[in-house]
Amino acid sequence: MIHWRPMTPGDLARVLEIANTLHPDYPERIEIFADKLAFDPDGCRVLADGDKVVGYGFAHGWTLGLPPLLDAELGAPPGPTDCLHLHDVAIMPQARGGGRVGLYLDHLESLASRRRLDWLGLIAITGKDGYWKAKGFTAMTTPGAGLSQRLASYGDGNHYLIRHLTKLKESDTQIA
Ligand SMILES: CC(C)(COP(=O)(O)OP(=O)(O)OC[C@H]1O[C@@H](n2cnc3c(N)ncnc32)[C@H](O)[C@@H]1OP(=O)(O)O)[C@@H](O)C(=O)NCCC(=O)NCCS
Repeated sequence: MIHWRPMTPGDLARVLEIANTLHPDYPERIEIFADKLAFDPDGCRVLADGDKVVGYGFAHGWTLGLPPLLDAELGAPPGPTDCLHLHDVAIMPQARGGGRVGLYLDHLESLASRRRLDWLGLIAITGKDGYWKAKGFTAMTTPGAGLSQRLASYGDGNHYLIRHLTKLKESDTQIA
């Protein structure tokens, strides 16, 4: 059965392989993945089909409106930790379409709730706006200074979106 489980350092070589396959335009080094995993292991999961890893998700506590740069070590958040930042979720084509992103979002919702964080933020890469908006994410109404410079590290055509966490389940129901 395909299921999400906690990510371990031993998964990172396969995670990099999937990232290189699915995100050739957003290259990141394995040490950057290791940094994210060490920073917030509870937010990082892999999708396992038996022994085979077929997807992954990276998320970590962060500052709303100021996402980390691409392929850069996290260091300290630029402001208060008031959201979970979903850095990436990626699933190999053969394992898609089973509502598995929704299950990962459920995990993040409960993690955020335990931490008393109300928001989830992410960068929707080119072409993925519609996907995330269908899950209830929206652009920030008043983005702060610094957002556009951070987004620029991803190249053109990417958008920072946020979602109030208490509404996640409702939108997952809609997409399922
Ligand atoms: C994004 C990704 C993880 C989604 O995986 P998945 O298993 O297909 O996700 P879900 O089952 O939650 O959603 C599938 C639904 O979203 C819809 N969808 C997919 N892309 C969409 C888009 N760009 N706009 C609107 N809807 C979209 C599908 O039509 C499908 O709808 P249906 O359930 O009504 O048939 C997967 O496509 C992937 O790994 N892509 C490459 C990596 C990536 O882009 N990650 C996101 C970075 S922001």
